[in-house]
Amino acid sequence: MTETIRRVNRSKDDARASYNRLSRWYDMIAGSTEKKYRDMGLEKLSAQPGEKILEVGFGTGHCLLSLAQSVGAAGRVIGLDISDGMLAIAKDRLEKEGLGERVDLHLGDAANLNFIEANSLDGVFMSFTLELFDNPEIPRVLQECKRILKPGGRVAVVSMTKTNPPGLPVRIYEWFHDTMPNYADCRPIFAKQAMEESGLVIQDVSVSSMWGLPVEIVLGKKA
Ligand SMILES: C[S@@+](CC[C@H](N)C(=O)[O-])C[C@H]1O[C@@H](n2cnc3c(N)ncnc32)[C@H](O)[C@@H]1O
Repeated sequence: MTETIRRVNRSKDDARASYNRLSRWYDMIAGSTEKKYRDMGLEKLSAQPGEKILEVGFGTGHCLLSLAQSVGAAGRVIGLDISDGMLAIAKDRLEKEGLGERVDLHLGDAANLNFIEANSLDGVFMSFTLELFDNPEIPRVLQECKRILKPGGRVAVVSMTKTNPPGLPVRIYEWFHDTMPNYADCRPIFAKQAMEESGLVIQDVSVSSMWGLPVEIVLGKKA
């Protein structure tokens, strides 16, 4: 049987409110657990000096910092997040490291990337964010990423994923998602498949495990 992914029913206002509440505690709760996978994604993206890179759902800004270091003074990083609480923490982190000038931070919903021109970026990075979008929005977000990339531009996605059939940790996670959608708003998705279906050319895939939950780290390219 083909496995389906769970729907996300909470509103964008709920998402914003919940990440605003979480922002001060996010690093304590998820920071060290997720770091290994974020770093794997950054390594696959391999941002280079002079490049222009977007991070979608930057959270407390650890990856923005790393991207700003990689692109150097001649490059540019754009960050987009729905939560002003997260934005304030990320901004503070960048300023403390003297890298605030290299990064443009935007508040908004990644289902709409209208503020970025087509064919203008070298790379897009997303960690533990694509799985927050509802099923019809996942292809929309990926299509938008494709639109703003230059031909040959890369997208690196780090995401909780599902095996077919799903193992016990996935089933437990989905149970939390079904019963407490405001606490477990994300859920495992098929990231590689979604990227392929959006017309990205898959370059590299790793599957790792986080507390028994499979995590996909996928690099795609705009043809
Ligand atoms: C699970 S956190 C991951 C943060 C960061 N990428 C990391 O790996 O540490 C998801 C982030 O996506 C942001 N987010 C949620 N929905 C969003 C949306 N529709 N558009 C943009 N950002 C969103 C949240 O505010 C939060 O900062």
